[in-house]
Amino acid sequence: MKENINLSNLPKHIAVIMDGNGRWAKKQGAMRIFGHHHGIKSVKDTVEGCVELGVKYLTLYTFSTENWNRPKLEVEGIMQLLIKTIGEEVPDLNKNNVRLKAIGDIESLPKSARKKLLDSIELTKTNTGLTLTLALSYSGKWEIVEVTKKIAQQVKSGALAIENITEEVFSSFLATGEAPDVDLMIRTGGDHRISNYLLWQLAYAELYFMDDLYWPEFRRQHLFEAIYEYQQRERRFGKTSEQLPSVKV
Ligand code: IPE
Ligand code: IPE
Ligand code: MG
Repeated sequence: MKENINLSNLPKHIAVIMDGNGRWAKKQGAMRIFGHHHGIKSVKDTVEGCVELGVKYLTLYTFSTENWNRPKLEVEGIMQLLIKTIGEEVPDLNKNNVRLKAIGDIESLPKSARKKLLDSIELTKTNTGLTLTLALSYSGKWEIVEVTKKIAQQVKSGALAIENITEEVFSSFLATGEAPDVDLMIRTGGDHRISNYLLWQLAYAELYFMDDLYWPEFRRQHLFEAIYEYQQRERRFGKTSEQLPSVKV
């Protein structure tokens, strides 16, 4: 599958909703947390797949604002897993020239998780290959409200005039920073929804839903398949086929 990918037409920004961990675990009679543990291998393989191809931005939905409403035991298990994994992965991230970032309400994370995260971000900040962003305690509506607050503050202080609020200005305040909008959004686990993920950045993303695969089963070969499928699609951005520069053969 990798050989079929056109490297000059890679999605610049891939976003993933890593869903189905709980159901995968349940299928084998295990606790939900067992699924989260196994999801780590999928994350590593996906990161390596992106590095192998030269994808610039990968944003993973790791824990949503709404996920705080899960049973306490599961939330604690996920936070423990996060603390353990983020620290452990720094050498591999550096080896692969991957820069770690996080978006979301980081302040709401337990102190130890926040510390591990900020330390790992610091230790990988000069890497220039893939930017790996973890969406943690994140929701798209939360992000839009945060941007609105920042813009209101600037207007109030006189730094920004209302008539100068453009899409570009709005985008520049988003948590995803300099990352371009999402080109390809992959969701495992069979549900066809975006669950409050990157609402603004997904405006023109190609959506790729995997009906028969839970996140712990996801490997780079699935990533390659998704990218291949993405490259077969015609992205018109409102135009007609005839207006597009490249004619598909
Ligand atoms: C995704 O898997 C991981 C998180 C939301 C943290 P789920 O835990 O949602 O697994 P399912 O969807 O219940 O199977
Ligand atoms: C989305 O999955 C959040 C993450 C993968 C972190 P959920 O399992 O929380 O989504 P819903 O509740 O099914 O929409
Ligand atoms: Mg789920």
